[in-house]
Amino acid sequence: MSFSNQNLVYVYYHGSGERQLTGRLLLKNRQIFFEYDADFIKKGLELSPFKLPLKTGVIESNDRTFEGLFGVFNDSLPDGWGRLLLDRKLMNVGLNPGTLSPLDRLCFVGTSGMGALSYEPENSSAMSHITNDLDEIDSEIQATLDENDDYVEDLLILGGSSAGARPKVLLNIDGVDWLIKFRSHLDPKDISAIEYAYHLMAIDAGLVVPEAKLFPSRKGMGFFGVKRFDRNGDSRIHMHTIAGLLHADHREPSLDYESIMKATLYLTKDIRQCEIQFRNAVFNVLSHNRDDHSKNFSFLMDETGNWTVSPAYDLTFSSGPAGEHSTMIMGEGKNPTKNHLLKLAGTVGIKQDKALEIIDQVLAATQKWDALQVKLAFLQYKPKILGRLCVRFAKRLISNQLYLIFLR
Ligand SMILES: Nc1ncnc2c1ncn2[C@@H]1O[C@H](COP(=O)(O)OP(=O)(O)O)[C@@H](O)[C@H]1O
Ligand SMILES: [Mg+2]
Repeated sequence: MSFSNQNLVYVYYHGSGERQLTGRLLLKNRQIFFEYDADFIKKGLELSPFKLPLKTGVIESNDRTFEGLFGVFNDSLPDGWGRLLLDRKLMNVGLNPGTLSPLDRLCFVGTSGMGALSYEPENSSAMSHITNDLDEIDSEIQATLDENDDYVEDLLILGGSSAGARPKVLLNIDGVDWLIKFRSHLDPKDISAIEYAYHLMAIDAGLVVPEAKLFPSRKGMGFFGVKRFDRNGDSRIHMHTIAGLLHADHREPSLDYESIMKATLYLTKDIRQCEIQFRNAVFNVLSHNRDDHSKNFSFLMDETGNWTVSPAYDLTFSSGPAGEHSTMIMGEGKNPTKNHLLKLAGTVGIKQDKALEIIDQVLAATQKWDALQVKLAFLQYKPKILGRLCVRFAKRLISNQLYLIFLR
């Protein structure tokens, strides 16, 4: 593997047609600069309106949140699992990952990143398929987690550009692009089933979610996979997390849902999109999805510059910092109540009647946990596992004052 540090990187935007030069990133004296290409400015596409608005001239990044990188490009960088794979690979060939700048890491991403942006010099190891056998991939993942590095290369190619903490791969199966998640050593054994149960519950609660399924496994309960919403056939769709949009580091609880709602209104200018986002917030509160950090909310921009809230993802039973929500609900992270949610709806002008209707619908779906159990039973999950799942869920709900308030 040959490698040299990069101080100048070209950024391209891909939609359905030819890639378009977006601009140039420059690293000088540890400072990162960006300049939009003049032809790209004429198109009027605001890729990142808050922190990198479309304008002529050199723009200096003076925010160190992402090691000085603009949030829109930081969104292309893998974290957690993908970063681990690349660092292992570099160490295997005698390179020190600490010497890599964010621009170097973007070059490794090349054309294989999530969303619609790509970076040059191109990464020659763009996404390709080694094997589609999920059990085989799972074995490689578990071996890699056990520090057996023989498989790092394969996994890097399959999913090294995806974000998020859990091991995952990006696979094209019969022409459809999937993101398939695996278990890390820290995850419970039933994590795929829990996420799938949450997926069904989210549909029932009226959330917009990507198509998802449990891919069968010969050994266990299967692997949770979602259809990628940043791909549509050969077209790529620009995707931006709220973390990247607002420079809100997802590793620290830095956000309130109020900022997410206001960003939603600003970007989409559409109250129906705000209602979709509000429903996501209500679902997270009522289903104890407390790892609701800033990388778990994204927006999509189409080729005409129109923004929408992305389908909801990473919905599962989870605890945030010290058991609280990572993202606060009108200043409350521990025991958010109906009043906090209603106040949140009011910040963007969602009518109280509409907010109450959404809350009722989500609440009804979360109360149907028993029915969900039946639904999953036909998928042949061991009752023991489901039992644990339900007990954990029910315990939380019963101890949750909010739930009692809602029941009144
Ligand atoms: N269906 C999808 N299409 C495109 N990108 C997705 C999809 N689901 C998740 N992502 C992206 O992949 C990242 C990791 O997925 P996520 O479910 O959050 O995994 P993790 O549990 O590891 O955090 C997300 O932060 C999001 O950017
Ligand atoms: Mg996530």
